[in-house]
Amino acid sequence: MEKREQLYEGKAKKVFATEDPEALIVSYKDDATAFNGLKKGTIAGKGIINNRMSNLLMQKLERLGIPTHFIRELSDRETLVKKVEIIPLEVIVRNIAAGSFAKNYGVEEGIVFAAPTIEFSYKNDALGDPLLNEYHALALGLATKEEIETIKKYAFAANAALKDIWKLCGVTLVDFKLEFGRTADGTVVLADEISPDTSRLWDSETKEKLDKDRFRRDLGGVEEAYQEIMRRLKENL
Ligand code: TMP
Repeated sequence: MEKREQLYEGKAKKVFATEDPEALIVSYKDDATAFNGLKKGTIAGKGIINNRMSNLLMQKLERLGIPTHFIRELSDRETLVKKVEIIPLEVIVRNIAAGSFAKNYGVEEGIVFAAPTIEFSYKNDALGDPLLNEYHALALGLATKEEIETIKKYAFAANAALKDIWKLCGVTLVDFKLEFGRTADGTVVLADEISPDTSRLWDSETKEKLDKDRFRRDLGGVEEAYQEIMRRLKENL
């Protein structure tokens, strides 16, 4: 597949056109940001790990009936994906209180919910990705009612599947963020990535953080955590 012009550069990935108008190449970088780009750094080898991990997990979800943008892995850092129009919602599923949930609602990190929760943020850096509800999303014309129903169904199904996969690896899936897109024919598919950048992954025994919180919170051992989580996934998938 021929790589053509760069269409977009995000905080962690670049996107290129290809000779196929319905396919794009995503290239994963080692760059890391936090707090809406305020904190910047690099995590050596992260791009390679996130590319591989996201592809393994998306293929697994695809086999379980959740459509994704994945077409095929091209190299260490590059993947061919379906061209989609990204629905500007960050869809966050949580099993355990952490991060902004713990902060916003004044609860301790680590409280296990009776049932998973879902929330949406408006994907808009200028506004700082504000939280919104389904009615806000409809009012802003970000997605249709049917699309929101589909997104919720896929997000909870992905949570069930990912929780099981990570459990086999001795890892607790605390929370994660998904993004969805519309293909040319309007089908809603899972897009973006599923990685330690976009998930909270804790060692089930020690509760050690094996995700991007090590970078966000300056905990050290960032590269090692990414390598460890990838090693466990490869061993158990
Ligand atoms: P939060 O607790 O900070 O809202 O994060 C919830 C989940 O979403 C966590 O697994 C990290 C992920 N996330 C992203 O993927 N991108 C972001 O910009 C933020 C703030 C969180």
